[in-house]
Amino acid sequence: MASEITTIKAWTYSEYGHSVDVLKFDPNVPIPQVKDDQALIKVAAASLNPIDYKRMEGAFKASDSPLPTAPGYDVSGVVVKVGSEVKKFKVGDEVYGDINVKALEYPKVIGSLAEYTAAEEILLAHKPKNLSFAEAASLPLTIETAYEGLERTGFSAGKSILVLGGAGGVGTHVIQLAKHVYGASKVAATSSTKKLELLSNLGADLPIDYTKENFEDLPEKFDVVFDTVGETEKAFKALKEGGKVVTIVPPGFPPSIFFILPSNGAILEKLNPYLESGKVKPVLDPKSPFPFSQSVEAFSYLETGRATGKVVIHPIP
Ligand SMILES: NC(=O)c1ccc[n+]([C@@H]2O[C@H](COP(=O)([O-])OP(=O)(O)OC[C@H]3O[C@@H](n4cnc5c(N)ncnc54)[C@H](OP(=O)(O)O)[C@@H]3O)[C@@H](O)[C@H]2O)c1
Repeated sequence: MASEITTIKAWTYSEYGHSVDVLKFDPNVPIPQVKDDQALIKVAAASLNPIDYKRMEGAFKASDSPLPTAPGYDVSGVVVKVGSEVKKFKVGDEVYGDINVKALEYPKVIGSLAEYTAAEEILLAHKPKNLSFAEAASLPLTIETAYEGLERTGFSAGKSILVLGGAGGVGTHVIQLAKHVYGASKVAATSSTKKLELLSNLGADLPIDYTKENFEDLPEKFDVVFDTVGETEKAFKALKEGGKVVTIVPPGFPPSIFFILPSNGAILEKLNPYLESGKVKPVLDPKSPFPFSQSVEAFSYLETGRATGKVVIHPIP
């Protein structure tokens, strides 16, 4: 019973630095306290995002939570306890979500690289029944970011889009949502040569090999460019008149639309039918899942910037 457990296993760091130097296994971390609006989750799987290593390197020290901390925004698992105000979930429910309300402001001290984590119910959704825990954990932060970015451009059926970084965690979902949820007229996306086939499989009509072609020099222009790489200036050269550039890579500059995702379980609930019908699929890097014991290796791999889809940690014992 979770209520009898006082300490849990987790990966934590006590100082900022690269994962190989600072991330350590800790068998005795106090179990997170559950607030009234939170659920305690027995973690089954976690996925890593670039923000995890940026935070670990101290990129937003001033607004970070105190160290030591266990990293991990994305989780899937089973609810083992609920706070008094929780209405949507009960003990035994399978859930998934991005557990941090605001990515850069006081993320949870105990993240998802832990046996148990706690999160507000508004950040969580029921796990799609057809997905494994590893698949579900791969989704929240990236698919919510993809959806939020498309919404902020006012994306709708019949519009065209160019996705910069189509093979990454976010890009793989921008392609799928634009094509299979919004009904884009045309989806173009960039990647290196070996990943072009994946882009097509996800729904890209025009995969562009950035090692051979400059997307900004192509004659075709787009209603929206979604920048997941940090090429905002060039993105404007690929835009139709009146089109919009959305970027998720800081700093972003006007007139591009830049945002930092506020986590929101309602987006996941909204997308669950598309995940359950198989129209939108999780994309796990071929090296995934990494077992819990290889969390440092998983970080090192994500830090190369070459992951395809998501780096997932599973099982978490
Ligand atoms: N603002 C927000 O709320 C928010 C939310 C999520 C993510 N982000 C940020 O967005 C960025 C992407 O996140 P992510 O999770 O998608 O990262 P990721 O999964 O680590 O992205 C890796 C992918 O990027 C591709 N890539 C790298 N350089 C490229 C280039 N010049 N052109 C095309 N593709 C390129 C790589 O493909 P190749 O090997 O083919 O190059 C690789 O597949 C990160 O900086 C992250 O911190 C921000």
